[in-house]
Amino acid sequence: MSAQVVLAARNVAKSYGQVHALKGVNFDIHRGQVTTLFGENGAGKSTLMKILSGVIQPTSGQIVLDGQPVAFGNANDARDRGISIIHQELSLAPNLSVRDNIFMGREIMGPLGVDYAEEERQTRALMEELEEQIDPATPVEDLRLGQQQIVEIARALSVDSRILIMDEPTSALSASEVEVLFKVIRDLTARGVSIVYISHHLEEALTITDHAVVLRDGVMTAYAPRAEIDLEWIVRNMVGENYDLGSPPDSAKGDVALSIRDLSVPDATGQDLVRGLNLDVRAGEIVCIYGLMGAGRTELLETVAGRLRATGGQIVLEGHEISHLSIGQRIARGLALVPEDRQRDGLVQTMSVGQNLSLASIARFTRGLFTSTRAERDLVDDSIRRVTVKTSGGGAPIGSLSGGNQQKVVIGKMLATNPRAILLDEPSRGIDIGAKAEVFRLLAEGAKNGLAVVYSTSEVSECLSIAHRIIVMHKGRITAEFDSTVSKDRIMAASGESQAA
Ligand SMILES: Nc1ncnc2c1ncn2[C@@H]1O[C@H](COP(=O)(O)OP(=O)(O)OP(=O)(O)O)[C@@H](O)[C@H]1O
Ligand SMILES: [Mg+2]
Repeated sequence: MSAQVVLAARNVAKSYGQVHALKGVNFDIHRGQVTTLFGENGAGKSTLMKILSGVIQPTSGQIVLDGQPVAFGNANDARDRGISIIHQELSLAPNLSVRDNIFMGREIMGPLGVDYAEEERQTRALMEELEEQIDPATPVEDLRLGQQQIVEIARALSVDSRILIMDEPTSALSASEVEVLFKVIRDLTARGVSIVYISHHLEEALTITDHAVVLRDGVMTAYAPRAEIDLEWIVRNMVGENYDLGSPPDSAKGDVALSIRDLSVPDATGQDLVRGLNLDVRAGEIVCIYGLMGAGRTELLETVAGRLRATGGQIVLEGHEISHLSIGQRIARGLALVPEDRQRDGLVQTMSVGQNLSLASIARFTRGLFTSTRAERDLVDDSIRRVTVKTSGGGAPIGSLSGGNQQKVVIGKMLATNPRAILLDEPSRGIDIGAKAEVFRLLAEGAKNGLAVVYSTSEVSECLSIAHRIIVMHKGRITAEFDSTVSKDRIMAASGESQAA
């Protein structure tokens, strides 16, 4: 017997002009169960979830709650009926505190106005439940991306929901944070709460789900209970073929292209996050930096790229010291960074797909006062093709792209600068398995042509598929170095990760 259906989509369609994001979808959410929605970038997953949670309205079709047709005018309507959503693209106000973000729009009122003390108490309780040490008074912009994701989760948990939609809730979380979230999910479902889960971490999603549904090009193409599915089933139904992320590419390694010497990077309080770090990367070499969230990987890469200032050490690119150069000058020298936070650092939200793609290469098109639009257009078209961005064209607003396709734009934008060395900080965040294979192929091809690649990730399997050499970082230092024949366990042990998971 299957559990009671609490919320359902009936023949729901959504179009944006000529883009048919959903083409008549039926979808059931069962009481107290986890249903996972799988699908490629741009398949329509977020669109369907936004409709079920009242954020947007369908072009046609119906939402049925407890057997009754309903129409949500906005997200508050849905929330009042017990439906909450954790958004894929975080929706927090950066300059407000953690507490104010959690209670924004539904402040707790006392006799004298907003009861901040009570809001703070509840925020602390939520953080405790999520096993996070985040002070309720911290402005959200001071938190690392994964912590911001925790705040987004806490905000959804602070409402007593019957149905909780989680659109890529773990894309920036560490393995232990994911464990905690899964414990919370199990507690919620035991109390009868229904969960809809979306993730491109397919194995991870398999450990929590009760049902799997696959969406492809706006159409529901497969459904099965947990007992009948495995990884192969998901991938086959998602993309129609199987992907092997393969093994590190053969490429002849040249001279040292990027040399990081005795580098130290401070945090806001002046304490060193990265201490005396040395790393040489040769032309044609792909080096993976593995570490837990907070190991200092992001700070290292941002300092090399010129976003953060080092307190000591040198950065040398192809024999030239670049430590004193601006970000733009480093890009012109051939150093590119794909940053961790695409919303904040990777994309300009008010610009089109094309403008974003050509932004970092603009110097190449400018002759005196004139920009060569023809060459720029060629670059945009070429980039869209290269990184397989699903979009109606270069003129589309960047915000109209699905999350994974926005990520591909950030990667395409930096590859378009023709770098000599590229740094990628968790670049697979939110991209589907086919796109990941494509990014790996592009990096391997780059390496064959002499590109030096530094690939930072918290997924061991990515290191083993792409890297010639694996560096493990822990608390701001390199704690181990391996070649690509190393086992998963040894890498994890060097990172300070427990083997329990
Ligand atoms: N506001 C919008 N304007 C125009 N097109 C849109 C808009 N929002 C979404 N789309 C289009 O709808 C399609 C589905 O997008 P959606 O965000 O639902 O994909 P997704 O399955 O969540 O993908 P991802 O895994 O990358 O997050 C895409 O082609 C996207 O470009
Ligand atoms: Mg999405």
